[in-house]
Amino acid sequence: MNQQTSVQPAVKTLPDAQTVTAVRHWTDDLFSFRVTRPQSLRFRSGEFVMIGLLKEDGKPLLRAYSIASPSWDDELEFYSIKVQDGPLTSRLQHIQPGDQIILRPKPVGTLVLDALLPGKRLWLFATGTGIAPFASLIRDPETYERYDEVILTHTCREVAALEYGRQLVEETLNHEFIGEDARAKLRYFPTTTREQSPQMGRITDLLRSGEVFQKLGIPPISAETDRGMVCGSLAFNLEIKEILEGFGLHEGANSEPAEYVVEKAFVG
Ligand code: A2P
Repeated sequence: MNQQTSVQPAVKTLPDAQTVTAVRHWTDDLFSFRVTRPQSLRFRSGEFVMIGLLKEDGKPLLRAYSIASPSWDDELEFYSIKVQDGPLTSRLQHIQPGDQIILRPKPVGTLVLDALLPGKRLWLFATGTGIAPFASLIRDPETYERYDEVILTHTCREVAALEYGRQLVEETLNHEFIGEDARAKLRYFPTTTREQSPQMGRITDLLRSGEVFQKLGIPPISAETDRGMVCGSLAFNLEIKEILEGFGLHEGANSEPAEYVVEKAFVG
């Protein structure tokens, strides 16, 4: 008897698949990548989505990633650490243009302009990959509509780990749409802690000593004029919170805007 059965071609399409369009490796531990954007995806700058890959057992392995690209970009950009034995990033670091990743199109998060009360000066405090949500916010025209001054601080151990942020700021200042606002309002304050650079030290120590205000030529943080967003390791976030509370700022949320908001840099 002829037991011919119809066999489907073995094409594996991931649920919520998006295609990788570019990958850039910054250091042995850091890389960024761009993927196609689902047509229906709307997000607020500073929000995160769940992205990942399929595990061997066919189930998705997802982690929270801040969207680093601005909301007007056709594609989505992400900035990631590479953890050599990390379940996701040990594999994700090998993605190439043309590969697919999973992206759940449900953006959420607290590092959004709406979670802050109006103010004059916006501080964006990042360590390591915590700069990702701010990469989106400093390219959003609304950030410059709401604030007279936007200060991005980024603390990393070594100079090479600042490079993604350095190029981001440079491109933003030269950008044809956002460049004029950024040149007028954006200030960048990179620091390193374990390698010599023009500005050494943890931003927390520089805030406590007042060196950062002196270097930028501005008055100390005040609850009347200053607003903050914080994204780094848990220990960093706790320290900055204490410092900001010391300046009289209170933590806000989407439902109850206040003077500062915090989110952990997720992977790593
Ligand atoms: P340090 O080198 O003094 O630990 P990591 O690579 O461990 O995620 O750290 C990224 C950067 O954040 C490093 O420059 C590190 O400084 C700094 N950092 C880590 N913890 C804190 C903290 N509690 N307050 C301020 N900076 C911190």
